[in-house]
Amino acid sequence: MAAMKSPFLLRRLREAGYLVRAAASDRALAFTTETALAVAAGGAVATDARWFAAAGDALHIDLARWADLLVIAPATAAGLARAASGLAEDLITATILAGARKVLWAPAMNPEMWHHPATRANVETLKEWGHAFVGPEHGAMAAASEESGLGRMSEPETIVEHVRYHLTTKDLEGRSFIVSAGPTREYFDPVRFISNPSSGKMGYAIAEAARDRGAQVLLVSGPTTLPDPWGIEVVRVERAEEMYAAITERFSRANAVVMAAAVADWQPAHTASEKTPKKKGVNMVELVPTPDILAELGHRKKPGQVLAGFAMETREGRERARAKLERKNLDLIALNFPTRSDSAFGSDYNNVELLFANGHVEATGRLSKRAVAERILDHIHELLSEKEAGLNAEQGKTS
Ligand code: C5P
Repeated sequence: MAAMKSPFLLRRLREAGYLVRAAASDRALAFTTETALAVAAGGAVATDARWFAAAGDALHIDLARWADLLVIAPATAAGLARAASGLAEDLITATILAGARKVLWAPAMNPEMWHHPATRANVETLKEWGHAFVGPEHGAMAAASEESGLGRMSEPETIVEHVRYHLTTKDLEGRSFIVSAGPTREYFDPVRFISNPSSGKMGYAIAEAARDRGAQVLLVSGPTTLPDPWGIEVVRVERAEEMYAAITERFSRANAVVMAAAVADWQPAHTASEKTPKKKGVNMVELVPTPDILAELGHRKKPGQVLAGFAMETREGRERARAKLERKNLDLIALNFPTRSDSAFGSDYNNVELLFANGHVEATGRLSKRAVAERILDHIHELLSEKEAGLNAEQGKTS
């Protein structure tokens, strides 16, 4: 049944900007149609029938050389077995054997079949050859079945994320990042809190982009509705004090920290242990400052580390952001304009100004949050390399 999702995967890949060609086995065409695949791919589908018909035309060689990545979605237990034993009797396995540069499998099968020692051994063999896997995921099996388990093909969106990961240059390999995201909640009784509308999207985009570029990432997230991203260690917190503890504990081992979280600046001086009853008249909540995480990190920062923050101001943005950058000992700060429609809370887009410790300012213009994330990471990459070169030169002088 997962084969019915293949046209959607092709469409999502094209939306993400990739050039695609579709190939389908005869079995797959019993579940989805050649027309649906051709429309979604925007071109003819390579089938076993075409492969056999084109005498002298080596379609498998052409596909293997053309593609940067061969995505097999859905992949069956039989497909994995054929590939792991080097059988090249159908177009897809022949393409693998013909030297496909990179292969990503998205398996879909009954959980028993996935767990069977034969499948386990085949997956191990393919991994040893450098093949990659996405899923299977936990979920209900074929429609109307009560059975559930590990065997569902990952959703097209997730497969696209893995494609992006495999096609991204790993320029941050060996670097470790801490990224904070989302709001914090400062409780004044067990069920009421002070917070802000931060969605967490900007911080998650930075964490995911850093992961795709090969960094090891710790995401410290306030409450958000976003799912935990794969390949990233996620620590969920609520209050600023919890975020402070989670980040400071790991800071000394990080190469870079990006504080994208909208940390509350104040917290109630006291948190009642019971819900405060409703009363007539004015009620006062006494507020005290939260620990300033970024200022503390700025204080502890070692010569090779890079620190980035965000600033959101409704007026005098540049002056205030520059003052924050200096006071908190940051390398760069991204200034948000909450009154601009394209950088509002919860949006998928942002439009920021990047201010640097060396006085440089760069406006990004309106970009997706992912593109803003990439821009920030380009700068952090450069700053880390500069600092490293500086440290090496220092060492050279003293030794
Ligand atoms: O001082 P202000 O809150 O405007 O600074 C914003 C930057 O400082 C953001 O990067 C935010 O994550 C960080 N911050 C912090 N701890 C706080 C408040 C803000 O790390 N208590």
